[in-house]
Amino acid sequence: MIPATNQRPAATILFIFGGSGDLNLRKLTPALYNLYLDKYLSDRFAVVGLGRSNYTDESFRERLLEGVQSFSRRKNGPDDAWKSFAPMVSYLQMDAGDKASYTKLSDFVADREKEWGVQANVVFYLAVAPQLVPGIATNLGKLPLCGDKSRVRIVVEKPFGRDLKTAQELNALLGGLFAEEQIYRIDHYLGKETVQNILALRFANSLFEPIWNRRYVDYVQITAAETVGLEGRGGYYEGSGALRDMIQNHLLQVLCMVATEAPISFDANEVRNKKVDVLNAIRRIKPEEVKDVAVRGQYGPGEKDGKPIPGYREEEGVKPDSTTETFAAVKLFVDNWRWEDVPFYLRTGKSLPEKATVITIQFKPAPYYAFPSEATHSWQSNRLTIGIQPGMDIRLRFQAKRPGQTLAIDPVEMVFSYKDAYAGQEPEAYETLLLDVMTGDATLFMRADQVEAAWKVVTPILDAWESETPDFPNYTPGSWGPEAAMQLVEKDGFHWMMK
Ligand code: BG6
Repeated sequence: MIPATNQRPAATILFIFGGSGDLNLRKLTPALYNLYLDKYLSDRFAVVGLGRSNYTDESFRERLLEGVQSFSRRKNGPDDAWKSFAPMVSYLQMDAGDKASYTKLSDFVADREKEWGVQANVVFYLAVAPQLVPGIATNLGKLPLCGDKSRVRIVVEKPFGRDLKTAQELNALLGGLFAEEQIYRIDHYLGKETVQNILALRFANSLFEPIWNRRYVDYVQITAAETVGLEGRGGYYEGSGALRDMIQNHLLQVLCMVATEAPISFDANEVRNKKVDVLNAIRRIKPEEVKDVAVRGQYGPGEKDGKPIPGYREEEGVKPDSTTETFAAVKLFVDNWRWEDVPFYLRTGKSLPEKATVITIQFKPAPYYAFPSEATHSWQSNRLTIGIQPGMDIRLRFQAKRPGQTLAIDPVEMVFSYKDAYAGQEPEAYETLLLDVMTGDATLFMRADQVEAAWKVVTPILDAWESETPDFPNYTPGSWGPEAAMQLVEKDGFHWMMK
């Protein structure tokens, strides 16, 4: 989280393992370039792409420019801006499995520091497949440079483990090589402006907090819906599924922002302590309860705009009898004084009708109703809807008297829209997160205990699902998932909300 004083990072060298990969092309370099255009990068900044592919500095820069032009929020900066940014980028061909080549990294740092005449912060970003992380981290950990915890950081992408045990093992391995304050576990949802704003909404206002509890809130829903299917990521997704891919990390982190107690400061550990408290308070699901509180789905074949679209099992890299879920919905409870017995419904899925991430805080009905019943046909309880993306807005629904001589009460909305309130584009999540790594602010990153606490929440569901073969496919692309997902909320007397 960028402090109000907009601190610029000190001299920094950023090494990206997986330099020629998709994440760098689509997200990291566009983010760095935008930081550069917004003057957030140090003048002494170098980014080094690492990989096995054969690039020269020049051809690597050309490839990255293509990425910027296709994926950046600003396709082009001012004339010549890329030309002045490009020299900061270089490429080092290396096989991450080759221990001997790691000294090239220390040599690069030493050369740059000599040229700059200052010591630099060094960031190692592991934008690689999860199975490569332990090996790379182990090799890095042996570099004397990495012992300097004040200036060397390592960034690890999700997925962080594939269950509690593997996450614990990875934490133990990384913890043996680096100090916790050097390890930045990324959850890109935390870098989204609208997610960060949840804390501002709650704790920079006195209006919401008094009613933000079990006395007034009926239920909370968090939906992260995607229209896309696999997008060629079959190899990764087959071993993951919606629960691991989205709920264990992104949606539980959003839940934490909604449910957390007020931090006493924005110190990274204070904010994270409060979030871990929420995760630890989530009621543990017993194996026999899983069928009542968790629903999984997988899309079958269907059609869109008159054209056939393949089912998940027909996608590249997917087994023809795959049991991987592309949809998951869960009902959770946070056992504490604030939230006891308030259901939190979370759902996510691929090939759904809309791309939208939305939080709904549904308030309880007014306790007593003096209006004549004929005046209140369309009456609805108060609701606060927080649009995370793509609609970035906050909507408060309340009742108003319809103008006229007859007494009629209707629901109306008060809307705060980011686009209307603020000119200019908001930064992308990766811009915020990369800047935070460079300035050494871990508030928006996952601490070891936070990741493990999140795995503890979903592990009983994963275990139960693994022990039974699901009846897949069970939803058509473009629908809102399996019928059972509707029943999950309807049996409690509610509906899924998007607006
Ligand atoms: C990633 C998941 O973490 O988040 C993807 O691996 C998913 O499967 C993506 O599509 C969604 O991110 P966003 O920012 O588009 O909501």
